[in-house]
Amino acid sequence: MTKISTLSKAQKPAHPELALLFCAENRSLDGLPYADAALLTAATLEKFKGEKDKTLYVPGGHGAKRILAYGLGKSADLDLETLRRAACAAARKARELKVAQVAVILPSDLPKEIDEADAAKAVAEGIWLGLYRYDSYKTQNKDKQAQDPAAFILLCAGDKGAKAAAAAVAEASVVCESVILVRDLVNCPPNAKFPEVMARHAAKIRAKGKRLTLKVLRRPQMLAKGMGGVLGVAQGSVHPPVFVHLHYRPARAKKSVALVGKGVTFDSGGLSIKTGGYMVDMKSDMAGGATVLATTLAASRLNLPLEIHAVVPFVENMPSGSSFRVDDVLTFMNGKTAEIQNTDAEGRVILADALVYASRLKTDLILDFATLTGAAIAALGMNITALMGDDKTVAGLKAAGDKCGEMMWQLPLPKQYRSHIDSRVADIKNTGSAGEAGTISAALFLKEFVEGKQPWVHCDIAGPAFLKKDDGVHPAGATGTPLRSVVEFLKTF
Ligand code: BES
Ligand code: ZN
Ligand code: ZN
Repeated sequence: MTKISTLSKAQKPAHPELALLFCAENRSLDGLPYADAALLTAATLEKFKGEKDKTLYVPGGHGAKRILAYGLGKSADLDLETLRRAACAAARKARELKVAQVAVILPSDLPKEIDEADAAKAVAEGIWLGLYRYDSYKTQNKDKQAQDPAAFILLCAGDKGAKAAAAAVAEASVVCESVILVRDLVNCPPNAKFPEVMARHAAKIRAKGKRLTLKVLRRPQMLAKGMGGVLGVAQGSVHPPVFVHLHYRPARAKKSVALVGKGVTFDSGGLSIKTGGYMVDMKSDMAGGATVLATTLAASRLNLPLEIHAVVPFVENMPSGSSFRVDDVLTFMNGKTAEIQNTDAEGRVILADALVYASRLKTDLILDFATLTGAAIAALGMNITALMGDDKTVAGLKAAGDKCGEMMWQLPLPKQYRSHIDSRVADIKNTGSAGEAGTISAALFLKEFVEGKQPWVHCDIAGPAFLKKDDGVHPAGATGTPLRSVVEFLKTF
């Protein structure tokens, strides 16, 4: 990742290659660091007033070699997400300009609910997440593309502010590194991330963090535990499943949480094979699993005083002569049975065993993350995570999401809809009523496997985990959503 440091305005570097001036609407550029007569004349000529996403570029100033003024819009509307997106857009401009060093002037008149350290953190996130590219498999034009500025220096009001901002930026770097880890794993092609490979990634993650231990269950141990769901889905693939349990145990922990993630390394649908374009991007079906592993890594590097168990079944869902079938009945780790009515509803089947396993760890909270249903996209679109389960936890997650610019919305889990998963031959079936509340019936299926009294929330990230179009801070492809919000939530849990 590009280097980002903080200094006070008094320590500003002389003649940076690019000075980036964030400017709210109708605030004069006069008096800002690096603003000289040439910039003020250009602003008048170009009628630059700091309107949202308007830019003013002046090459060859006196104070800085080049100046880019970036409009933030009305200062009353200024929030962290506006800053994050502005920083992302400006960082991409800096990349186009091929400058090595950028001095960034944070906006000086922030609304009172935003302190400068939070603003610096948002700007750092915008830069790191916005400059992300996945080019591991590009063999051409790589050098031309790799022209990221080497360093950004965020200039704060005073020395004290620069210190506070440095701490906030250091935290952002840990969190963004984890987001980028998720993106790299999710963007990775499915022929390079079979379950066994994901176990190796989990081992690398363990080695990168502090106070982490790793347990990996393979077929024999899964058989012994009665994990018929994971084994059933994995049956059609030549690549055996692995069940990953990463444990973070800080020196002092007040509470504990289990994070469960869906780890389908490729979802072809199995015998209920996906048709048309629906199979495209199904390498992203392990995004929940990558998210919980990388969240645990971030928590360990930040020394959060919270015990965390990340639990991920990794499988490949493939059609073959040995696949699980429609009409099969599978028996899970808690003895419950489910009739398979669609092998493409495989996520809930592997998560059933994972939730029983997580429940038995007796934590104070269970959260699960899964690219579970296309219906979540129908309900909320590509940019909003669907949350279901304990109301208080949902409210906490949603508040963290608002702070981090990751949208979330709650769907209900009505008892009346439990009948949608009734089966004639087994305890339940793995599909709901056709065309009706598919996200909710999937969650009601999962609920059957949550034991104990601790709160549980299910997060369906089918939309936001992987985007077809660039959304600024979230580029096309894997996004790493909602890792930042989860870390933010865990900080206060
Ligand atoms: N992995 C898919 C869900 C998905 C769809 C994620 C689109 C991301 C984008 C999941 O395994 C699936 O196929 N679900 C089915 C369930 C249905 C068969 C009950 C679906 O949503 O169509
Ligand atoms: Zn599926
Ligand atoms: Zn799936």
